[in-house]
Amino acid sequence: MTAPMSIRHYLQFKDLSADEYAHLFARAAFIKRKFKAVEKYQPFADPDRTLALIFEKASTRTRVSFEAGMYQMGGSVVHLTTGDSQLGRAEPIEDSARVISRMVDLVMIRTYEQAKIEAFAAHSRVPVINGLTNEFHPCQILADLFTLVEHRPAASGQPLDAIRGKVVAWVGDGNNMANTWLQAAELLGFTVHVSTPSGYEVNPELAGISDRNCFKVFKDPREACADADLVTTDVWTSMGFEAENEVRRAAFAQWCVDEAMMQLARPDALFMHCLPAHRGEEVSAEVIDGPQSVVWDEAENRMHAQKALMEFLLLGRLA
Ligand code: CP
Ligand code: NVA
Repeated sequence: MTAPMSIRHYLQFKDLSADEYAHLFARAAFIKRKFKAVEKYQPFADPDRTLALIFEKASTRTRVSFEAGMYQMGGSVVHLTTGDSQLGRAEPIEDSARVISRMVDLVMIRTYEQAKIEAFAAHSRVPVINGLTNEFHPCQILADLFTLVEHRPAASGQPLDAIRGKVVAWVGDGNNMANTWLQAAELLGFTVHVSTPSGYEVNPELAGISDRNCFKVFKDPREACADADLVTTDVWTSMGFEAENEVRRAAFAQWCVDEAMMQLARPDALFMHCLPAHRGEEVSAEVIDGPQSVVWDEAENRMHAQKALMEFLLLGRLA
C-alpha cells in the first residue's frame, strides 16, 4: 500500500483552504463531465487504491457515493459496520486505526462523537474523511456548494465568486449540518440566516467558528428566508437523537419550509436538503418536489465532489 508523503485529513469543513475548495470544485466539474460522457477516469487503478468505509450509523447516499465513486476511479472498497466488526466489541478506536490504516489507502468514517474520528485520525497512517458525525457533515456541504456553483455560476467563471456574498437560510435544527454551514460561511465569505426553535440553537464554539458575523439568528423562520439565495433544512431528529423524536416534533412544528417561505426568498432561490427528507415535517412536498428544488442534483453531486476530494487526498493537486 502507498502512503502519501504528508497526510491530510478531512474531519471538518475548515480542514481545507478556500483555494483548495476552488480546486476541488473545478476537479469535481471535470470528473462529473467524464462520468456523464461515459469516459473512464481511473487514477486509483495502478497502483490499486483501497478505501475503508466504516459506518456506525445508517446511510444510503454516503455509502453509495463513496463506494461507486471509488470503483469508478479504479480502486476498491472494504465496508465495515459496528455490528460486523470488532468496533462493536469495544476494540479501542486507536487500535482499530493502527490496524485498518496499515492495509488501506484511505478511510471514511460515519460515527457519533467528533472526538472519536479525531482519535482515529490521530492514529491513522492514511487520510481520514468525515462521513458524518454528531457535530459535522463536511462532505455534504462540499457537495451542496458544488451544486450551488453549478446552478448559479458567477459571471467570472470562478467557483468561489459564485459563493461569496450569498445568503443561505438554515431553517430547523442547530445540528451537524448547521455547524458545517457556519464553518463554510466563515471560510468562503457568505452569510447563514439561522432560524431554529428555542433550545435547538447553533453554538459557535461547537461549530468551531470565530467570526460571529458569518451568521445571523432569526426567531421567525420566514424572516430567515427573506431575500435568501438558498433555503435549506434537514430532519428534525438526527441519527442518535431518536429518543427525542416526539418532543422535537412539537418544538419544530413551525419550522417546515413551505411555499410561503420560499416566496420570501429571492425569485431565483434554490432549495436544498441533504436527504433523507420527511415531506410534511421539515419541508412540504410542494417545495421539495417543486421547481426551485435541486435535491437530486445535490445527492448525485456527493459522488462527483467526493471523487475530487479522494483524488486530492491521495494524489494531491492534479491539473
Ligand atoms: N445526506 C446523507 O448523508 O445521506 P445518507 O445518510 O443516506 O448517507
Ligand atoms: N442531520 C442528519 C443528517 C443526515 C444525513 C443526521 O445526522 O442524521
